[in-house]
Amino acid sequence: MRIHAALGAALAVLLACSGAAVAAQEAPGADLAERLGCFACHSVKGQGGNGAVSLDGVATRLSPRQLQLALTYPRQLHPRAKMPSYAYLPTAEQEALVHYLESFK
Ligand code: HEC
Repeated sequence: MRIHAALGAALAVLLACSGAAVAAQEAPGADLAERLGCFACHSVKGQGGNGAVSLDGVATRLSPRQLQLALTYPRQLHPRAKMPSYAYLPTAEQEALVHYLESFK
């Protein structure tokens, strides 16, 4: 029993650490997504809007090229999508967002 508890605690610490590392690494794209209001329509892990498909696992459905397209010309992927185009964003910000989306596996 005590060994199990200790293992559980160690695992919890490990998970917490890896989670923090990912959050720090993904920060620019995550901040942008927050500021641009992506989560008014999309959810991630149950948080956010439900006006559009959840972004959970989006990187397993779409290639980086398609993620870029979804961001800049959403209707090329989803002809009736009521999603604004983010083609006006500077390239670096588009890349940060695509990189962020790539983390949703
Ligand atoms: C006004 C609502 C709205 C906003 C804001 C919005 N989207 Fe969308 N998005 C949609 C809709 C609608 C679709 C089409 C799929 C669907 O019908 O759910 C879509 C599709 C996508 C897809 C393709 C998903 C897939 O599985 O094919 C991605 C990726 C995406 N959005 C990312 C973003 C990001 C990143 C932002 C913020 C920069 C954003 N969206 C902002 C409504 C929105």
